[in-house]
Amino acid sequence: MNEFKLGKMISEGENVNVYESGDYAVKVFKPDAPKTVVFYEALMDSKVEETGLNIPKIKEVEIIDGKWAIASELIKGKTLAQIMQEEPENKDAYLDDMVEIQLEIHSKSVKGIAKLKDNLRAEIESLDVIDHIKRYELLTRLDSTPKHIKLCHGNFGPENIVVTDDNKVYIVDWIGASLGNASADVAKTYLKLALTSTETAEKYMNLFCTKTNTSKKYVQEWLPIMAASTLAKGVTSKEEKDLLFTWLDVVDYS
Ligand SMILES: Nc1ncnc2c1ncn2[C@@H]1O[C@H](COP(=O)(O)OP(=O)(O)OP(=O)(O)O)[C@@H](O)[C@H]1O
Ligand SMILES: [Mg+2]
Repeated sequence: MNEFKLGKMISEGENVNVYESGDYAVKVFKPDAPKTVVFYEALMDSKVEETGLNIPKIKEVEIIDGKWAIASELIKGKTLAQIMQEEPENKDAYLDDMVEIQLEIHSKSVKGIAKLKDNLRAEIESLDVIDHIKRYELLTRLDSTPKHIKLCHGNFGPENIVVTDDNKVYIVDWIGASLGNASADVAKTYLKLALTSTETAEKYMNLFCTKTNTSKKYVQEWLPIMAASTLAKGVTSKEEKDLLFTWLDVVDYS
């Protein structure tokens, strides 16, 4: 067991802070984080590791200064979000890379993890900011979707991709992973990207649809469901909440 001395902070988040510690990245949870969340995340990391996808290998789960922490191998590099910001002229090429990485994720499946459809049903049922008509409409829409068992990241975006100097790509942040429809996972990423730029989000969705020969309508039909799911998980910024509410109400696309 290591005695981790926390070094430079890599990231400060709502639920965790990530620090360097020698060859490790140590993800320290906030003091009130339930133990189940920590071990669930460690389990998801371990399950995804089995698929052969390039993710930082998890090393230890432990308590540091009274807080739960997960130590994994440190990936020295930059997030794709940082890179995109530094090289706006290459953004389209990086969006293309992002879709390719997501397609590789969707090509995998893994036994013994939650089904996205089950998670989404529970989230829609628990969402108290919508009326019963909207809830019924969303649940009916969800029920009509085909049952797929592709590995979905659940929170896929450029901030969860770390690229090393020699261009190796690692995917992080697997707590939202589940088995389900690729289009649902893509709708979730669309909503994340649309928070900063609708144009980027549209480009991203178009790339996915072209590469996979998927009709755009098919992906768009997941938007209200994924907006509801995101709201149910708890959104703190008013701006994001307002945007998600507009997606909740988009029903028909022509
Ligand atoms: N093993 C690692 N090596 C290098 N950097 C990492 C590693 N794990 C995470 N990071 C960095 O830390 C950031 C945050 O980690 P992660 O995405 O897992 O949590 P988070 O999104 O901040 O969680 P939350 O938003 O719930 O607080 C990542 O975007 C990445 O830049
Ligand atoms: Mg993250």
